[in-house]
Amino acid sequence: MNLIDGKKIAAQLRNKLKVEVDSIQKKFNRVPGLTVILIGDFAPSQIYVRNKEKSAKEIGLRSEIVKYPKDVQEKTVLNKIDELNKDDDVSGILVQLPLPDHIDKQKIIERINPEKDVDGFHPHNVGNLSSGYESSVPCTPLGCYLLIKEIEPNLSGKKAIVIGRSNLNGKPMAQLLLKENCTVTITHSKTKDLKNECNKGDIVIAAVGIPELVKGDWIKKDAIVIDVGINKTEKGIIGDVAFEEVSKVAKALTPVPGGVGPMTIACLLKNTIDCFKRSLK
Ligand code: GUN
Repeated sequence: MNLIDGKKIAAQLRNKLKVEVDSIQKKFNRVPGLTVILIGDFAPSQIYVRNKEKSAKEIGLRSEIVKYPKDVQEKTVLNKIDELNKDDDVSGILVQLPLPDHIDKQKIIERINPEKDVDGFHPHNVGNLSSGYESSVPCTPLGCYLLIKEIEPNLSGKKAIVIGRSNLNGKPMAQLLLKENCTVTITHSKTKDLKNECNKGDIVIAAVGIPELVKGDWIKKDAIVIDVGINKTEKGIIGDVAFEEVSKVAKALTPVPGGVGPMTIACLLKNTIDCFKRSLK
């Protein structure tokens, strides 16, 4: 079994992006910039945002965090987004989720200029992705896609099973695989006989948030299995895939941690640079 080393593949991607930032700096005498808006004190968000800033700075991007208390007015955040939309030094804007209940998530997402939407959550980008046009693509499914391509560059005709239908992961994941000519099935909590569906997959992507849901006998021999799950349990952080069992049948499998996670941040950096490059067109 091939353990897919997300840490290593993400480090390679970051090195490539650093070279790109250096050449942008030489050519244009400025660098792409990422601004992250962080609202409230949800502990995991604080950690994610700090890691995003650190990684952005390491490859030479301009990086800024705008922090607001959890009771900030929605209008204040919308005004800030308007300001960032107009700022030429800001190539990418990310509003860290989840948001406090009194703030309308969709309203916030739709206020971001789609050309600066490094999350790929704006309806323009969602639509462009599903129409097969150029767009920002959500970072986690983009990271999964790049890992799958490392193992199997030609995905044409492969059967892919996506478990989970979220806007963040499942749906964009399915679109990326469709673009590669996979035959894609999106499954979810109401799917009948999920095991039987999974058994058909040459590629299985688990993004449901149920610890060790996917068992060894759910997986076809030599399938590629990508585990997006990050579940906090008494045993520590574990994925949506029963790692030991599945590792005995899969051709390649991502570990948790050290699989998809590092790729998510690397893809955010990629999206920031891609937004900068598109802004020059
Ligand atoms: N919170 C957890 N994951 C994400 C993500 O990919 N983007 C944003 N904006 N917030 C998140």
